[in-house]
Amino acid sequence: MADPKLLLMSGSLRKGSYNRMLIILAARAFGSAEVTEGDLDLPLYNGDVEEVEGVPEKVHTLVEQIKAADAIVIGAPEYNKGITGVLKNALDWISRTPGWALKDKPTVVVSASAGRTGGETSQFMTQHCLSQHQARLIPGPAVCVAGAMDAFDEEGRLLDETAQKLLNKRMQRLREEIA
Ligand code: FNR
Repeated sequence: MADPKLLLMSGSLRKGSYNRMLIILAARAFGSAEVTEGDLDLPLYNGDVEEVEGVPEKVHTLVEQIKAADAIVIGAPEYNKGITGVLKNALDWISRTPGWALKDKPTVVVSASAGRTGGETSQFMTQHCLSQHQARLIPGPAVCVAGAMDAFDEEGRLLDETAQKLLNKRMQRLREEIA
């Protein structure tokens, strides 16, 4: 059987993003898969631009990646106790394309943040927004990596064994859901 297609989406555009590190670890924990990464570096949603120029090509590319994916993992950084503009903007653009790309798509949201709650609030908000898209949110142990700047080693591995175990469990659950 062909490997499942796993799409990773990071709500941070930063090169050294901890959320990106986390979703890469999530992909490893998921096991054998055809992994792709969505580019969320999109223009800001503007209804006037949409009317004149239509939906940007980059959004169409992202939507095609979503439609092709068997499962999605989103890294949701926390800015000011909420979802990042980057991620929300992407979700807004996606909702402007026909066909509800995220509908019924098995999806897991994880987060890493500098604060003590590990981005729990942004994770919750992301899931709330995804429910509007009718994504199939896969439950399981929450993966909220706190104190992100001290949580990874130089190779991008999680230092905390418990956090890694939670990630493994969550990804196993996602895998079971699409089996
Ligand atoms: C933050 N950060 C942050 N952290 C947190 O735990 N709760 C918060 O509300 C915020 N707010 C916030 C706002 C803004 C504008 C910035 C730039 C940062 C810190 C944040 O968790 C940290 O920068 C992470 O490293 C961001 O994720 P990436 O880019 O590493 O994936």
